[in-house]
Amino acid sequence: MPSPSPPAADRSPVSRDDVAAAAARLDGVVRRTPVLEVEAASLADVPVVCKLDLLQPTGSFKVRGAANLLLSADVPTAGVVAASGGNFGLAVAWAARRTGVAAHVFVPDSSPREKIDGLAALGAEVHVVAGTYQQALDASEAWRAEHGGLQAHAYDQPEVVAGQGTCAVELEAQVDGLDTVLVAVGGGGLVGCVATWFAGRVRVVAVETEGCPALHAALAAGEPVAVEPAGLCVSSLGASRVGDLGFVAATAAGVESVLVTDEDVRAAQRRLWDACRLVAEPGGATALAALTAGAYRPAPGERVAVIVCGANTDPSTVTGAR
Ligand SMILES: Cc1ncc(COP(=O)(O)O)c(C=O)c1O
Repeated sequence: MPSPSPPAADRSPVSRDDVAAAAARLDGVVRRTPVLEVEAASLADVPVVCKLDLLQPTGSFKVRGAANLLLSADVPTAGVVAASGGNFGLAVAWAARRTGVAAHVFVPDSSPREKIDGLAALGAEVHVVAGTYQQALDASEAWRAEHGGLQAHAYDQPEVVAGQGTCAVELEAQVDGLDTVLVAVGGGGLVGCVATWFAGRVRVVAVETEGCPALHAALAAGEPVAVEPAGLCVSSLGASRVGDLGFVAATAAGVESVLVTDEDVRAAQRRLWDACRLVAEPGGATALAALTAGAYRPAPGERVAVIVCGANTDPSTVTGAR
């Protein structure tokens, strides 16, 4: 049951051709992650296909965009400079190491310790900045103005967004007759490009928590607006404003938007653990939460997929929470 929205390709700054080119570029660089069909009773009233992008190197889909950027660009001697609540930084550090360039990653001080440690372990220079993602981004831009370097934006840069969209290319090849894909949203890079790839063919549902509603607020306002990210998912979904690329693409493709609570996300994390013995971080289980909490209710027979997009959390917060 695809949504009847018009194809976005002609109106989106990142086209389907860009995504297809990224998929070719990333072949053999990032993992082609598996899909897992989870039986009806365990997750929702319908069978759910989980696209396990939490199995990527560094534990999130973000390596797709980071690697596509570094393989598309000339990187100056100063290296690549990124601001990230964690997962994009890890991805940039991983891609930089793989391509032999330096990485400077600016993180808000709210980032989990394991993400900061992971950045250092990948060889990145880590700059911890007091405040939110926005403050980390401002600091990264100030550093780059002084020292040079290639900017890597976590969600509002065409090469990054096109790379994230390769998840949709794989999903389409892996699942026949897909009707609907649910996608978690932070700055909107992933959902925007998934929507561009599937526009007019597969319904795309954007899922955010009530504390991190950047796309939901933008769709209500008709333009990107500032929000104050809060709650469980702030380190992964906590963009202060949805990116222009994601907003334009999501609007053009007629993306639906739903909200879930932090408790819904915790429940989805536990459901994934109980059903599959997989640990997803809160942002990685947010899309699934829309199904398990009923924020999105599939019609009978609707073929639904969820992108399980991140794993970076302390496992005991999931396996120990009963
Ligand atoms: C695990 C996880 N899921 C979803 C997102 C949201 O991605 P985007 O900013 O492209 O909307 C992020 C962003 O960092 C993330 O780390």
